[in-house]
Amino acid sequence: MAVVARCSRSSRGLLLPRAGSGISALSAVPSVLQQQHHQVHHAVIPHGRSGRSSVSGIVATVFGATGFLGRYVVNRLGRIGSQVIIPYRCDQYDLMYLRQMGDLGQLLFLEWDCKDKDSTRRALEHSNVVINLVGKEWETKNFSFEDEFVNIPRSIARITREAGVETLIHISHLNASMKSPSKYLRSKAVGEKAVREEFPDAVIMKPSEMFGREDRFLNHYANMRWFGGVPLISFGKKTVKQPVYVVDVAKAIVKAIKDPDAKGKTYALAGPNRYLLYDMVEYIYAVAFRTYFPYPLPRPLYHLIARIFEISPFEPWLTRDKVDRFHTTDMILPDLPGFEDLGIQPASLEQKAIEVLRRHRRYRWLDAELEEAKPAKTYPM
Ligand SMILES: NC(=O)c1ccc[n+]([C@@H]2O[C@H](COP(=O)([O-])OP(=O)(O)OC[C@H]3O[C@@H](n4cnc5c(N)ncnc54)[C@H](OP(=O)(O)O)[C@@H]3O)[C@@H](O)[C@H]2O)c1
Repeated sequence: MAVVARCSRSSRGLLLPRAGSGISALSAVPSVLQQQHHQVHHAVIPHGRSGRSSVSGIVATVFGATGFLGRYVVNRLGRIGSQVIIPYRCDQYDLMYLRQMGDLGQLLFLEWDCKDKDSTRRALEHSNVVINLVGKEWETKNFSFEDEFVNIPRSIARITREAGVETLIHISHLNASMKSPSKYLRSKAVGEKAVREEFPDAVIMKPSEMFGREDRFLNHYANMRWFGGVPLISFGKKTVKQPVYVVDVAKAIVKAIKDPDAKGKTYALAGPNRYLLYDMVEYIYAVAFRTYFPYPLPRPLYHLIARIFEISPFEPWLTRDKVDRFHTTDMILPDLPGFEDLGIQPASLEQKAIEVLRRHRRYRWLDAELEEAKPAKTYPM
Protein backbone atom coordinates (compact mmCIF):
# COMPACT_ATOMS: atom_id res chain seq x y z
CA MET A 1 0.00 0.00 0.00
CA ALA A 2 2.83 2.31 0.91
CA VAL A 3 4.32 1.73 -2.51
CA VAL A 4 1.11 2.59 -4.30
CA ALA A 5 0.77 5.70 -2.16
CA ARG A 6 4.10 6.96 -3.50
CA CYS A 7 2.95 6.54 -7.07
CA SER A 8 0.48 8.78 -8.81
CA ARG A 9 -2.09 7.76 -11.37
CA SER A 10 -1.96 10.10 -14.34
CA SER A 11 -5.15 11.61 -15.71
CA ARG A 12 -5.26 8.72 -18.21
CA GLY A 13 -4.86 5.94 -15.72
CA LEU A 14 -1.19 5.13 -16.23
CA LEU A 15 0.70 4.22 -13.08
CA LEU A 16 3.97 6.07 -12.90
CA PRO A 17 6.02 7.63 -10.13
CA ARG A 18 5.69 11.32 -9.40
CA ALA A 19 8.51 13.49 -10.70
CA GLY A 20 11.21 13.43 -8.13
CA SER A 21 10.03 10.30 -6.34
CA GLY A 22 12.62 8.39 -8.36
CA ILE A 23 12.43 4.98 -9.91
CA SER A 24 12.73 3.20 -6.60
CA ALA A 25 8.97 3.42 -6.02
CA LEU A 26 8.13 1.39 -9.08
CA SER A 27 10.82 -1.18 -8.49
CA ALA A 28 8.81 -2.51 -5.57
CA VAL A 29 5.53 -2.78 -7.48
CA PRO A 30 4.86 -6.45 -8.23
CA SER A 31 4.93 -7.19 -11.93
CA VAL A 32 1.37 -8.61 -11.77
CA LEU A 33 0.12 -5.25 -10.57
CA GLN A 34 2.03 -3.52 -13.34
CA GLN A 35 0.52 -5.92 -15.83
CA GLN A 36 -2.99 -5.03 -14.67
CA HIS A 37 -2.25 -1.36 -15.10
CA HIS A 38 -0.84 -2.04 -18.56
CA GLN A 39 -4.28 -3.28 -19.52
CA VAL A 40 -6.25 -0.29 -18.12
CA HIS A 41 -4.21 2.08 -20.21
CA HIS A 42 -6.63 4.62 -21.64
CA ALA A 43 -3.88 6.77 -23.14
CA VAL A 44 -3.45 4.29 -25.99
CA ILE A 45 -7.08 4.66 -27.11
CA PRO A 46 -7.33 7.74 -29.33
CA HIS A 47 -10.23 10.07 -28.70
CA GLY A 48 -11.03 13.76 -28.93
CA ARG A 49 -10.70 16.19 -31.81
CA SER A 50 -6.91 16.13 -31.88
CA GLY A 51 -4.97 18.86 -30.19
CA ARG A 52 -3.33 19.24 -26.84
CA SER A 53 -6.32 18.19 -24.72
CA SER A 54 -7.30 15.17 -26.79
CA VAL A 55 -5.75 11.71 -26.70
CA SER A 56 -3.68 10.79 -29.74
CA GLY A 57 -3.24 7.16 -28.72
CA ILE A 58 0.53 7.65 -28.67
CA VAL A 59 2.29 6.86 -25.41
CA ALA A 60 5.92 7.60 -26.13
CA THR A 61 9.02 7.19 -24.02
CA VAL A 62 11.58 9.73 -25.22
CA PHE A 63 15.12 8.94 -24.09
CA GLY A 64 17.33 12.03 -24.40
CA ALA A 65 14.32 14.37 -24.27
CA THR A 66 16.31 17.01 -22.40
CA GLY A 67 18.60 17.61 -25.38
CA PHE A 68 18.39 19.90 -28.40
CA LEU A 69 16.16 17.73 -30.60
CA GLY A 70 14.29 16.35 -27.57
CA ARG A 71 12.42 19.56 -26.75
CA TYR A 72 11.05 19.77 -30.31
CA VAL A 73 9.96 16.12 -30.29
CA VAL A 74 8.25 16.42 -26.89
CA ASN A 75 6.58 19.65 -27.99
CA ARG A 76 5.15 18.08 -31.14
CA LEU A 77 3.99 14.99 -29.27
CA GLY A 78 2.44 17.07 -26.50
CA ARG A 79 0.51 19.33 -28.82
CA ILE A 80 -1.33 16.41 -30.44
CA GLY A 81 -2.35 15.00 -27.05
CA SER A 82 0.20 12.24 -26.55
CA GLN A 83 1.37 10.90 -23.25
CA VAL A 84 5.13 11.35 -23.04
CA ILE A 85 7.38 9.59 -20.57
CA ILE A 86 10.60 11.50 -20.09
CA PRO A 87 13.43 9.53 -18.50
CA TYR A 88 16.07 11.98 -17.27
CA ARG A 89 19.34 12.06 -15.41
CA CYS A 90 19.71 15.79 -14.87
CA ASP A 91 18.51 18.02 -12.09
CA GLN A 92 14.70 18.46 -12.03
CA TYR A 93 15.09 22.22 -12.44
CA ASP A 94 16.83 21.63 -15.77
CA LEU A 95 13.70 20.15 -17.28
CA MET A 96 11.17 22.71 -16.11
CA TYR A 97 10.85 24.10 -19.64
CA LEU A 98 9.47 20.75 -20.84
CA ARG A 99 6.59 20.74 -18.37
CA GLN A 100 4.38 23.16 -20.29
CA MET A 101 4.66 21.17 -23.51
CA GLY A 102 1.76 18.83 -22.81
CA ASP A 103 -1.62 18.84 -21.13
CA LEU A 104 -1.84 18.40 -17.38
CA GLY A 105 -0.62 14.94 -16.38
CA GLN A 106 0.42 13.99 -19.89
CA LEU A 107 4.17 14.46 -19.41
CA LEU A 108 5.60 12.02 -16.91
CA PHE A 109 9.15 12.41 -15.65
CA LEU A 110 11.17 9.49 -14.45
CA GLU A 111 14.72 9.31 -13.13
CA TRP A 112 16.76 7.09 -15.41
CA ASP A 113 20.08 5.30 -15.17
CA CYS A 114 21.02 4.08 -18.63
CA LYS A 115 23.29 1.38 -17.14
CA ASP A 116 20.42 -0.12 -15.14
CA LYS A 117 18.29 -2.37 -17.36
CA ASP A 118 15.37 -2.35 -14.91
CA SER A 119 15.36 1.41 -14.96
CA THR A 120 15.13 1.37 -18.78
CA ARG A 121 12.41 -1.30 -18.68
CA ARG A 122 10.33 0.69 -16.23
CA ALA A 123 10.59 3.75 -18.43
CA LEU A 124 9.23 2.07 -21.54
CA GLU A 125 7.04 -0.85 -20.55
CA HIS A 126 3.78 1.15 -20.61
CA SER A 127 4.51 2.83 -23.94
CA ASN A 128 3.64 1.96 -27.50
CA VAL A 129 6.44 4.09 -28.94
CA VAL A 130 10.08 4.43 -27.87
CA ILE A 131 12.28 7.21 -29.25
CA ASN A 132 16.01 7.19 -28.63
CA LEU A 133 17.66 10.62 -28.86
CA VAL A 134 20.52 9.89 -26.49
CA GLY A 135 23.84 11.29 -27.60
CA LYS A 136 26.83 13.36 -26.61
CA GLU A 137 29.26 15.37 -28.73
CA TRP A 138 32.24 14.45 -26.60
CA GLU A 139 33.40 11.46 -24.58
CA THR A 140 33.54 11.60 -20.80
CA LYS A 141 35.28 9.33 -18.29
CA ASN A 142 31.91 7.68 -17.65
CA PHE A 143 30.59 7.38 -21.21
CA SER A 144 32.58 6.76 -24.37
CA PHE A 145 31.06 7.21 -27.85
CA GLU A 146 30.70 3.44 -27.88
CA ASP A 147 28.53 3.65 -24.76
CA GLU A 148 26.47 6.54 -26.11
CA PHE A 149 25.90 5.32 -29.64
CA VAL A 150 26.22 1.52 -29.45
CA ASN A 151 25.69 0.13 -25.95
CA ILE A 152 22.83 2.39 -24.83
CA PRO A 153 20.91 2.09 -28.16
CA ARG A 154 21.45 -1.69 -28.16
CA SER A 155 20.15 -1.98 -24.62
CA ILE A 156 17.13 0.27 -25.34
CA ALA A 157 16.33 -1.70 -28.54
CA ARG A 158 16.60 -5.05 -26.77
CA ILE A 159 14.43 -4.01 -23.83
CA THR A 160 11.90 -2.37 -26.18
CA ARG A 161 11.57 -5.66 -28.09
CA GLU A 162 11.32 -7.70 -24.89
CA ALA A 163 8.61 -5.38 -23.54
CA GLY A 164 6.58 -5.87 -26.73
CA VAL A 165 6.55 -2.18 -27.68
CA GLU A 166 5.45 -1.80 -31.31
CA THR A 167 7.50 1.16 -32.51
CA LEU A 168 11.12 2.10 -31.93
CA ILE A 169 12.63 5.21 -33.48
CA HIS A 170 16.40 5.55 -33.31
CA ILE A 171 18.31 8.68 -34.30
CA SER A 172 21.59 8.12 -36.05
CA HIS A 173 23.54 10.52 -38.31
CA LEU A 174 23.56 11.09 -42.06
CA ASN A 175 27.32 10.60 -42.21
CA ALA A 176 27.48 7.53 -39.98
CA SER A 177 30.14 5.36 -41.55
CA MET A 178 32.78 2.88 -40.51
CA LYS A 179 35.25 4.74 -42.73
CA SER A 180 34.71 8.15 -41.15
CA PRO A 181 37.67 9.89 -39.49
CA SER A 182 35.26 10.80 -36.68
CA LYS A 183 34.82 8.25 -33.89
CA TYR A 184 31.36 9.73 -33.23
CA LEU A 185 30.29 8.84 -36.78
CA ARG A 186 31.95 5.41 -36.71
CA SER A 187 30.13 4.60 -33.47
CA LYS A 188 26.86 5.79 -34.99
CA ALA A 189 27.35 3.31 -37.85
CA VAL A 190 27.93 0.44 -35.41
CA GLY A 191 24.94 1.62 -33.37
CA GLU A 192 22.63 1.46 -36.41
CA LYS A 193 23.60 -2.18 -36.95
CA ALA A 194 23.17 -3.02 -33.27
CA VAL A 195 19.68 -1.50 -33.20
CA ARG A 196 18.66 -3.37 -36.37
CA GLU A 197 19.91 -6.66 -34.89
CA GLU A 198 17.92 -6.18 -31.71
CA PHE A 199 14.81 -4.62 -33.25
CA PRO A 200 14.62 -5.30 -37.02
CA ASP A 201 11.49 -3.15 -37.41
CA ALA A 202 13.07 -0.07 -35.86
CA VAL A 203 12.78 3.20 -37.77
CA ILE A 204 16.23 4.74 -38.10
CA MET A 205 16.47 8.46 -38.82
CA LYS A 206 19.72 9.85 -40.20
CA PRO A 207 19.68 13.65 -39.96
CA SER A 208 22.56 15.79 -41.17
CA GLU A 209 23.83 18.55 -38.82
CA MET A 210 20.71 20.15 -37.37
CA PHE A 211 20.24 23.88 -36.97
CA GLY A 212 17.76 25.64 -34.73
CA ARG A 213 17.72 28.14 -31.91
CA GLU A 214 19.75 26.03 -29.44
CA ASP A 215 22.00 24.32 -31.99
CA ARG A 216 25.71 23.66 -31.74
CA PHE A 217 26.28 24.24 -35.44
CA LEU A 218 25.31 27.73 -36.67
CA ASN A 219 25.82 29.11 -33.14
CA HIS A 220 29.23 27.43 -33.05
CA TYR A 221 30.41 29.13 -36.22
CA ALA A 222 28.83 32.46 -35.25
CA ASN A 223 30.61 32.33 -31.87
CA MET A 224 33.96 31.81 -33.55
CA ARG A 225 34.13 35.57 -34.08
CA TRP A 226 35.35 35.81 -30.46
CA PHE A 227 38.52 34.05 -31.61
CA GLY A 228 39.23 36.63 -34.26
CA GLY A 229 37.96 34.71 -37.28
CA VAL A 230 36.80 31.37 -38.56
CA PRO A 231 39.46 28.69 -39.04
CA LEU A 232 38.48 26.29 -41.82
CA ILE A 233 40.42 23.32 -43.13
CA SER A 234 41.30 24.04 -46.79
CA PHE A 235 39.27 27.24 -46.44
CA GLY A 236 36.14 25.07 -46.20
CA LYS A 237 36.21 24.65 -49.97
CA LYS A 238 36.52 20.87 -49.88
CA THR A 239 33.56 20.27 -47.54
CA VAL A 240 29.93 20.33 -48.64
CA LYS A 241 27.19 20.62 -46.03
CA GLN A 242 23.44 20.08 -46.27
CA PRO A 243 22.11 21.18 -42.87
CA VAL A 244 18.59 20.34 -41.76
CA TYR A 245 16.13 22.34 -39.66
CA VAL A 246 15.54 20.69 -36.26
CA VAL A 247 11.75 21.20 -36.43
CA ASP A 248 11.64 19.21 -39.67
CA VAL A 249 13.42 16.30 -38.00
CA ALA A 250 10.93 16.41 -35.10
CA LYS A 251 8.06 16.46 -37.63
CA ALA A 252 9.59 13.45 -39.41
CA ILE A 253 9.75 11.51 -36.14
CA VAL A 254 6.08 12.15 -35.35
CA LYS A 255 5.04 11.32 -38.94
CA ALA A 256 7.00 8.07 -38.81
CA ILE A 257 5.16 7.07 -35.62
CA LYS A 258 1.85 7.41 -37.41
CA ASP A 259 2.98 5.79 -40.68
CA PRO A 260 2.77 1.97 -40.55
CA ASP A 261 4.89 1.78 -43.73
CA ALA A 262 7.81 3.42 -41.93
CA LYS A 263 8.55 0.29 -39.89
CA GLY A 264 11.97 -1.18 -40.63
CA LYS A 265 13.00 1.76 -42.83
CA THR A 266 16.02 4.01 -42.60
CA TYR A 267 15.41 7.66 -43.50
CA ALA A 268 18.06 10.12 -44.69
CA LEU A 269 17.03 13.57 -43.47
CA ALA A 270 18.89 16.46 -45.03
CA GLY A 271 17.91 20.03 -45.87
CA PRO A 272 16.92 21.10 -49.40
CA ASN A 273 20.22 22.83 -50.29
CA ARG A 274 23.90 21.97 -50.27
CA TYR A 275 26.60 24.55 -49.57
CA LEU A 276 30.36 24.66 -49.53
CA LEU A 277 31.32 25.06 -45.87
CA TYR A 278 33.05 28.34 -46.83
CA ASP A 279 29.86 29.75 -48.39
CA MET A 280 27.65 28.50 -45.58
CA VAL A 281 29.75 30.21 -42.92
CA GLU A 282 29.89 33.36 -45.05
CA TYR A 283 26.08 33.37 -45.07
CA ILE A 284 25.99 32.90 -41.27
CA TYR A 285 28.10 36.03 -40.88
CA ALA A 286 26.03 37.93 -43.44
CA VAL A 287 22.79 37.19 -41.53
CA ALA A 288 24.47 38.08 -38.23
CA PHE A 289 25.81 41.33 -39.76
CA ARG A 290 29.30 40.45 -38.59
CA THR A 291 32.58 40.65 -40.46
CA TYR A 292 33.51 37.32 -41.99
CA PHE A 293 37.19 36.60 -41.55
CA PRO A 294 37.92 33.03 -42.64
CA TYR A 295 41.43 31.65 -42.64
CA PRO A 296 42.79 28.25 -43.61
CA LEU A 297 44.08 26.04 -40.82
CA PRO A 298 45.81 22.69 -41.38
CA ARG A 299 44.04 19.77 -39.69
CA PRO A 300 46.91 18.91 -37.25
CA LEU A 301 46.99 22.50 -35.98
CA TYR A 302 43.19 22.57 -35.70
CA HIS A 303 43.38 19.32 -33.70
CA LEU A 304 46.00 20.84 -31.43
CA ILE A 305 43.71 23.79 -30.63
CA ALA A 306 40.77 21.41 -30.12
CA ARG A 307 42.92 19.34 -27.76
CA ILE A 308 43.38 22.40 -25.55
CA PHE A 309 39.59 22.81 -25.35
CA GLU A 310 39.27 19.11 -24.53
CA ILE A 311 41.47 19.49 -21.45
CA SER A 312 39.13 22.14 -20.07
CA PRO A 313 37.14 20.94 -17.01
CA PHE A 314 34.00 22.51 -18.52
CA GLU A 315 32.02 21.36 -21.57
CA PRO A 316 34.53 21.34 -24.39
CA TRP A 317 33.49 23.96 -26.94
CA LEU A 318 35.58 22.20 -29.57
CA THR A 319 36.96 18.68 -29.83
CA ARG A 320 39.16 16.95 -32.40
CA ASP A 321 36.22 14.76 -33.27
CA LYS A 322 33.98 17.77 -33.86
CA VAL A 323 36.60 19.28 -36.18
CA ASP A 324 36.54 16.09 -38.24
CA ARG A 325 32.74 15.79 -38.16
CA PHE A 326 32.17 19.37 -39.26
CA HIS A 327 34.68 18.95 -42.08
CA THR A 328 33.00 15.80 -43.40
CA THR A 329 31.05 16.24 -46.62
CA ASP A 330 27.39 15.31 -46.15
CA MET A 331 26.54 12.08 -47.92
CA ILE A 332 23.89 11.85 -50.60
CA LEU A 333 21.92 8.65 -50.02
CA PRO A 334 19.48 8.43 -52.95
CA ASP A 335 18.44 4.85 -52.10
CA LEU A 336 17.03 5.83 -48.73
CA PRO A 337 13.62 7.44 -48.25
CA GLY A 338 13.62 11.01 -46.97
CA PHE A 339 11.36 13.91 -46.07
CA GLU A 340 9.26 13.68 -49.22
CA ASP A 341 8.30 10.08 -48.34
CA LEU A 342 6.91 11.40 -45.07
CA GLY A 343 5.11 14.27 -46.80
CA ILE A 344 7.37 16.96 -45.36
CA GLN A 345 8.82 19.91 -47.27
CA PRO A 346 12.05 20.71 -45.39
CA ALA A 347 12.84 24.36 -44.67
CA SER A 348 16.00 25.86 -46.10
CA LEU A 349 18.81 27.54 -44.20
CA GLU A 350 17.80 30.85 -45.79
CA GLN A 351 14.29 30.59 -44.35
CA LYS A 352 15.21 29.71 -40.78
CA ALA A 353 18.80 30.83 -40.07
CA ILE A 354 17.53 34.18 -38.83
CA GLU A 355 15.88 32.42 -35.85
CA VAL A 356 19.29 31.26 -34.71
CA LEU A 357 21.42 34.17 -35.75
CA ARG A 358 19.46 37.26 -34.75
CA ARG A 359 20.95 37.03 -31.26
CA HIS A 360 24.44 37.31 -32.75
CA ARG A 361 23.67 40.71 -34.29
CA ARG A 362 24.65 44.03 -32.80
CA TYR A 363 21.75 46.03 -31.39
CA ARG A 364 21.88 48.35 -34.40
CA TRP A 365 21.08 45.49 -36.79
CA LEU A 366 18.68 43.57 -34.59
CA ASP A 367 15.60 44.29 -36.69
CA ALA A 368 17.33 44.47 -40.08
CA GLU A 369 15.45 42.66 -42.84
CA LEU A 370 16.79 39.30 -43.91
CA GLU A 371 16.77 40.42 -47.54
CA GLU A 372 19.70 42.72 -46.76
CA ALA A 373 21.94 39.64 -46.41
CA LYS A 374 23.20 38.18 -49.68
CA PRO A 375 21.67 34.66 -50.17
CA ALA A 376 24.06 31.75 -49.69
CA LYS A 377 25.69 30.27 -52.79
CA THR A 378 24.34 26.74 -53.18
CA TYR A 379 26.35 23.75 -54.38
CA PRO A 380 24.94 21.43 -57.05
CA MET A 381 23.28 18.23 -55.75
N1 LIG B 1 22.65 17.90 -33.07
C1 LIG B 1 22.84 17.51 -34.31
O1 LIG B 1 23.12 18.31 -35.19
C2 LIG B 1 22.67 16.05 -34.67
C3 LIG B 1 22.82 15.66 -36.00
C4 LIG B 1 22.63 14.34 -36.34
C5 LIG B 1 22.31 13.41 -35.36
N2 LIG B 1 22.19 13.81 -34.06
C6 LIG B 1 21.83 12.80 -33.07
O2 LIG B 1 20.51 13.06 -32.64
C7 LIG B 1 20.37 12.72 -31.27
C8 LIG B 1 19.87 13.94 -30.51
O3 LIG B 1 20.79 14.99 -30.72
P1 LIG B 1 20.80 16.29 -29.79
O4 LIG B 1 21.56 17.32 -30.52
O5 LIG B 1 19.44 16.57 -29.30
O6 LIG B 1 21.70 15.77 -28.58
P2 LIG B 1 21.94 16.50 -27.19
O7 LIG B 1 21.43 17.90 -27.21
O8 LIG B 1 23.37 16.30 -26.83
O9 LIG B 1 21.01 15.68 -26.17
C9 LIG B 1 21.32 14.38 -25.91
C10 LIG B 1 20.39 13.84 -24.84
O10 LIG B 1 20.88 12.57 -24.44
C11 LIG B 1 21.01 12.55 -23.03
N3 LIG B 1 22.13 11.70 -22.66
C12 LIG B 1 23.35 11.68 -23.22
N4 LIG B 1 24.10 10.74 -22.63
C13 LIG B 1 23.33 10.18 -21.67
C14 LIG B 1 23.55 9.15 -20.72
N5 LIG B 1 24.71 8.53 -20.67
N6 LIG B 1 22.55 8.83 -19.89
C15 LIG B 1 21.36 9.47 -19.94
N7 LIG B 1 21.09 10.44 -20.83
C16 LIG B 1 22.07 10.79 -21.68
C17 LIG B 1 21.27 13.98 -22.64
O11 LIG B 1 20.97 14.15 -21.28
P3 LIG B 1 21.68 15.32 -20.46
O12 LIG B 1 20.97 16.57 -20.86
O13 LIG B 1 21.44 14.95 -19.06
O14 LIG B 1 23.13 15.31 -20.86
C18 LIG B 1 20.31 14.70 -23.58
O15 LIG B 1 19.01 14.63 -23.07
C19 LIG B 1 21.74 12.23 -30.81
O16 LIG B 1 21.80 10.85 -30.91
C20 LIG B 1 22.68 12.86 -31.82
O17 LIG B 1 23.86 12.10 -31.96
C21 LIG B 1 22.36 15.11 -33.69
